[in-house]
Amino acid sequence: MTLETHSSLEGKRLLLIIGGGIAAYKCLDLIRRVKERGMTVRTILTKGGEQFVTPLSVSGLSGEKTYTDLFSLTDEVEMGHIRLSREADLVLVAPATADMMAKMVAGIADNLATTALLATDKPVMIAPSMNSRMWEHAATQRNVKQLQKDGIHVINPTSGDLACGEVGAGRLAEVEDLVAALEGFFTPTGPLAGRHIIITAGPTYEAIDPVRYIANRSSGKQGYAIARALRELGAKVSLISGPTNLDAPKNVTVTNIESANEMLAACQNTLPADVAICVAAVADWRTSQEAAQKIKKQGGQIPALQMVENPDILKILSNDATNRPTLVVGFAAETENISNNAKAKLKRKGCDWIVANDVSTTDGQSVMGGDHNRVSLITAAGAEEWDNAHKDEVARRLAQKIEKHFT
Ligand code: C5P
Repeated sequence: MTLETHSSLEGKRLLLIIGGGIAAYKCLDLIRRVKERGMTVRTILTKGGEQFVTPLSVSGLSGEKTYTDLFSLTDEVEMGHIRLSREADLVLVAPATADMMAKMVAGIADNLATTALLATDKPVMIAPSMNSRMWEHAATQRNVKQLQKDGIHVINPTSGDLACGEVGAGRLAEVEDLVAALEGFFTPTGPLAGRHIIITAGPTYEAIDPVRYIANRSSGKQGYAIARALRELGAKVSLISGPTNLDAPKNVTVTNIESANEMLAACQNTLPADVAICVAAVADWRTSQEAAQKIKKQGGQIPALQMVENPDILKILSNDATNRPTLVVGFAAETENISNNAKAKLKRKGCDWIVANDVSTTDGQSVMGGDHNRVSLITAAGAEEWDNAHKDEVARRLAQKIEKHFT
């Protein structure tokens, strides 16, 4: 049965991972509610989850087989754990226990649920539920923060009477709130709804050996601000990010990478897109061969590093013969001759717009890592100078320009 009113869940596929908490029973109702809205649900039931609900009741409601075992030969033949983790539009863990969250943070894959979570290339949402002391524990709070940084969407628990008899924060969000969170995820509204935008952000790390790397200075703040601003206008945003200290923007799919080669591969895997915005400070070079062991100091002898050029992601996306985004935007940090240099870069890279940072006026250090940016927008139509503004404001202005471009 589907609801009369159109739901953004219609036609979407959910992989529901039911963890071992007393609130697992709420998932039975959740399955019914999302199925009413036209969603298909596949379920992984953890060993803990099985203590609270049975595979039979879950399958009875979902109309699909319930998966429980990583090493089940029949399951693996019918539906390998990798396929299970990928053939979904969204993965929801409910209830997410403290233990499950800790495993996710550590990247532990010791059962079907944790393996699927590590193998998935789809957005992940978690709805934690536990005793309030466990929820408030420094370790759990640290884990929640890290999971958010890793791009996982957290549906916070609510406060009230807990099954253990205590009162406090830790109750699984109500079923209608879980449904609303799912619907919110799939309902981008706004002028850029239906547009897919790829953004690269942050630095890349080019490993010299297991402990050393080459990188550019970049906080990622400008790229993340652009991701937020475009999502606010309803776009589907894929953020491909080098290492930063920033929290993943809400409802944005973040792919964390380290090197330029990984960033390029992630961009290409994320195509097609309507827009690509390359904000990342990609390292221009890497060593020709990453040393397998730490390079030792050799009595004053300086190691000679053989360098090779990294792929120019902006140029490659701009010249993609089959999948070129309609609009490709690059960034350029300039210290002099800003407009002319940026125009030359526009041609050289083959992109449509260049946002030129003036890193000479506010000294270089404060643009890179600071909260403000002074930019010019260079397009085929000419150059437009924007006042020095907060990076969030620069992002909003750029997002509005993109909105105009598509209307
Ligand atoms: O050539 P330059 O590094 O000045 O160009 C800056 C622009 O090109 C930025 O948009 C940056 O994200 C992008 N770029 C890239 N891949 C590289 C180098 C730069 O995408 N290897």
